[in-house]
Amino acid sequence: MIKKGILSVIAIGTLAISAYAADKVITPESLSLRKTNIVDESKAAPIDAKYNAPAPGAAKTIERSYENAPPLIPHSVDGLLPITIKNNACLGCHMPAAAKSVGATPIPESHFTDFRPTTAVKDGKVIKDGRAVANATDVTIAKFKKLKKLNPARYNCSQCHVPQANVKPLVKNNFKPIFSSDKLKHKSDLIKVIDQGVK
Ligand code: HEC
Ligand code: HEC
Repeated sequence: MIKKGILSVIAIGTLAISAYAADKVITPESLSLRKTNIVDESKAAPIDAKYNAPAPGAAKTIERSYENAPPLIPHSVDGLLPITIKNNACLGCHMPAAAKSVGATPIPESHFTDFRPTTAVKDGKVIKDGRAVANATDVTIAKFKKLKKLNPARYNCSQCHVPQANVKPLVKNNFKPIFSSDKLKHKSDLIKVIDQGVK
């Protein structure tokens, strides 16, 4: 009796599992957000995004994604890319000296600052002011220095600032930024608050 009972439980269980498995076939396409085969991507193509933004000067700035986020590029970048270290079309309008006359937001002070600490690692030891420091936590506050030129580490504007296309996000983003002041929805003040919570 007991044996039979166990056997039928197993039989029902196996049936249930196979029915479930037949119902829920997981295909490579169903795992993909783009609904393409993720095992073989040779036929996957990027979506046809339309970057049909107005020319610089005719666009309206976009609210910052969060306080001190890199602003999105609201205008067309046709003919402005690629940016190289020697040839950067963005500078013609966004360098502070030129920006006002063309109505562009000037490149902020943070981009004319070197935030890298004046410390270095030599032979596996952290060197500060020429002396080895035993504890790496002694050097966590980075010194920064103002530069006369744009920091070359920032030359590639489109590494952080990106043009916008009218496409539907694959995953809905429910993030809602909170700004400490309405002014910061269209302006940054990073250089003023960079030490907040450190000093
Ligand atoms: C011909 C001048 C011109 C050029 C070249 C140009 N911009 Fe602009 N940019 C503007 C103007 C003017 C605005 C303000 C919006 C408008 O009027 O279109 C602006 C706005 C922006 C903004 C938004 C600023 C904010 O406060 O929200 C970003 C970011 C930006 N540009 C980045 C770039 C990058 C990166 C490049 C190079 C790929 C570039 N721009 C090239 C004129 C220019
Ligand atoms: C490493 C990322 C990074 C790179 C590269 C970079 N930016 Fe930014 N940019 C930011 C961030 C973050 C902010 C907002 C915080 C701040 O002001 O630093 C910003 C702010 C700005 C603003 C808005 C200033 C304001 O007063 O609101 C402009 C304009 C701008 N960047 C232009 C440029 C241009 C032009 C280049 C290329 C020469 C560039 N950026 C390169 C990250 C970057």
